[in-house]
Amino acid sequence: MDSKLKTLKKRLYEIKYISSASSLLHWDSEVYLPQNGVSSRAITNSLIDEICHKKLLKLDDGNILTDLVNESSNLSLEDAAMVREAFRNFDKGRKFSNSFVKRLSILSTKSHHVWIDARKKKDFSMYSKILGEMIDIQKEAVDLLGYEDHPYNALIDDYEPGMTVSKLDTIFNGLRDFLVPFIRKITDKKVSWNITMDGKFSVLKQKKLNRDILDILGYDLSSGRLDISTHPFTVEIGPHDVRVTTRYSPNDPIYALYSSIHEGGHGIYTQGVPVEYFDVGIGHGASLGVHESQSRMYENLLGRSLPFIKLLHGYILKYFPDFTKTPDDLYRIINHVTPGYIRTESDEVTYNLHIIIRYEIEKKLISGDIKVTELPEVWNSKMKEYLGVDVPSDDLGVLQDVHWSLGSFGYFPTYSIGNIYSAQIYNTMLKDIPELKEVISLDTLKSMKAWLYEHIHKYGRVYMAEDLIKNATGEGMNTSYFNSYIEEKYSKLYNLV
Ligand code: CO
Repeated sequence: MDSKLKTLKKRLYEIKYISSASSLLHWDSEVYLPQNGVSSRAITNSLIDEICHKKLLKLDDGNILTDLVNESSNLSLEDAAMVREAFRNFDKGRKFSNSFVKRLSILSTKSHHVWIDARKKKDFSMYSKILGEMIDIQKEAVDLLGYEDHPYNALIDDYEPGMTVSKLDTIFNGLRDFLVPFIRKITDKKVSWNITMDGKFSVLKQKKLNRDILDILGYDLSSGRLDISTHPFTVEIGPHDVRVTTRYSPNDPIYALYSSIHEGGHGIYTQGVPVEYFDVGIGHGASLGVHESQSRMYENLLGRSLPFIKLLHGYILKYFPDFTKTPDDLYRIINHVTPGYIRTESDEVTYNLHIIIRYEIEKKLISGDIKVTELPEVWNSKMKEYLGVDVPSDDLGVLQDVHWSLGSFGYFPTYSIGNIYSAQIYNTMLKDIPELKEVISLDTLKSMKAWLYEHIHKYGRVYMAEDLIKNATGEGMNTSYFNSYIEEKYSKLYNLV
């Protein structure tokens, strides 16, 4: 068994370090790549992907992987996790033929371009045909992968192993039934605050401010970088090279700060995973939902709390001494609730309804219960029903997200799973670090990072998401922590009785 393990580790190590080149290229594409370099970059990417795919299909040469799967009850916890994850990837890899993978990749590139154009022209009908083809190929993927109960289960499994439609239906219905009337209570109050920022905020100074904030949160800048990209993201290139990006506006420092804090949460998680896990493919978080729980916890539960905003306010003054807002102003600005069209611009109260709408729709697209041509109508009527807004045009509605154009069906639910987990974990952490609710010092932030390391980060992908959460919080996923967090905070802020 030892020699089989050794061989498997060597094979996984090669795949991991070759694919880290493609992570670096992805980062470069978003941060530095000149426009005319796009097509040659696509060739390099596809060649690296091909090398990794070939190596993936060879994982079981000599039957070592299948043998190890059969013997996994005798393995250590870490080795068993490594074998489990290697087999998951291998098994998915062998179900897709080379020609299927190529067809999917060509369609994604094409549909992405069509989507960009359609969004610019605010016209869903331009995109409808190729989106239909994308849904058909997703259905083919579902059939190749196989599934139980609901075809959408095969797709969620890629992002959130173990999650199913029947679990999500229960979770999301409960969340929706709490949020819709609660948001109505807030909007009925018709509170209007002055939420505009006055003044100019030099990007150079903002960069320093954002680095300071990442540093106090515990993101290690000597094992990472902060750069600029249109859509902020985090990428893991190696165990000591985890990079984040943000985007600055000279009129408003808030967007950049909260993007940095969000990505910093992802970065701190990934930087905390042991190197030996990275080497064998269990170095990433337990699932996308768990990963998102860390970013949302830093961004929302911590980042949008009054004690943190007081600390943040001091740092803003350090670089912008003429800043006129008080911490209380800033708290209201940062926590203002407005039902709007755009998911990525929405506040933490309305956000999950954007996700639930997408989930309800994509599940039915995959099962064939909604036709592509009906999409704008279904989208707009759900927006009206849940958020009370009338969508004026397709670019502000059904065309706003990139995900479907790239074939990422089943991804959206992980954002809300992250929100739910974040509140549940934070609630447990507060028992050990009660000062998070009162005055936040640099030491409090150190304790928070250490707590998360001890209960979440250091395990990488050793545990499945549900088990990790049970171990950390004493119970499986429970939405009541998120609901009470929202209810308590916003009832106070909006004087609801
Ligand atoms: Co995120």
